[in-house]
Amino acid sequence: MTNFRHQPGPPKRILILGAGGHGRVVLDILLQSAHHQVVGFLDNNPNIHGRRVDGIPVLGAIDDLAHVAHQGDVTGVIVAIGDNGVRRGLAREVDATGIDLINAIHPSATLAHNAMLGRNVVVAAGVVVCAHCQIGDSVILNTGCIIDHQTMIGEGTHICPGVRIAGRVTVEPGTFIGIGATIIPKITLGCECIVGAGAVVIDDVPPMATVIGVPAHQIKLASASEDEVAMLLPAHV
Ligand SMILES: CC(C)(COP(=O)(O)OP(=O)(O)OC[C@H]1O[C@@H](n2cnc3c(N)ncnc32)[C@H](O)[C@@H]1OP(=O)(O)O)[C@@H](O)C(=O)NCCC(=O)NCCS
Repeated sequence: MTNFRHQPGPPKRILILGAGGHGRVVLDILLQSAHHQVVGFLDNNPNIHGRRVDGIPVLGAIDDLAHVAHQGDVTGVIVAIGDNGVRRGLAREVDATGIDLINAIHPSATLAHNAMLGRNVVVAAGVVVCAHCQIGDSVILNTGCIIDHQTMIGEGTHICPGVRIAGRVTVEPGTFIGIGATIIPKITLGCECIVGAGAVVIDDVPPMATVIGVPAHQIKLASASEDEVAMLLPAHV
């Protein structure tokens, strides 16, 4: 993990993987940065190959990454796919190619000087990340969410717009927190759990559970053996 500040040097030439709604949000963030030059999208929808999305060409399928990156002198990639599992898996594949995974941080976001970010992280407009937070790889901090002090956000999670997470919360990998939800201090959200839109979470949430309401209560628990859950748990968040 590093802090969020950009390294000096020439702008990176960037490919965005995924030209859907989230890809467009990521493009908008990168266009506001002097540090990045977006050269194109890759997307698995063949109907948009050769076309432009928000003025940027769709250069091929995601499987074409190595070839397109070589041809276009690409120096950085960001995976802009909303599905947590797909985003996380693709980011690991990109990593294996040796191409840099970059972060997209909107200029209006406020990050504490000692906040730590992984790679392939999206920090959208108006986000606030407070002191001593740790944000894992492939996390989406969506529009206007607040992450208070000493909170840890695990790999491949999506924190939706307007979510408020209090201090010292642990969000394990793969979690989805729906729009406008609130999490009180020191809660642990188990890996791959889902918090419904507008929920107020006042108790720990087990791995792979879905909780909704005020206060939040469990409505679902995905079936998984203890072994499978253990495989999802991180060595660290
Ligand atoms: C929690 C959620 C994931 C549940 O989805 P689901 O597993 O498909 O569940 P269902 O739609 O079958 O709903 C199950 C029950 O919970 C209720 N429910 C669903 N979401 C709810 C919510 N956020 N708050 C309160 N009740 C909710 C439904 O009305 C339904 O009630 P019923 O059994 O009495 O009819 C989903 O409703 C949700 O809140 N998603 C958040 C989406 C979001 O924030 N998107 C932002 C993208 S940037």
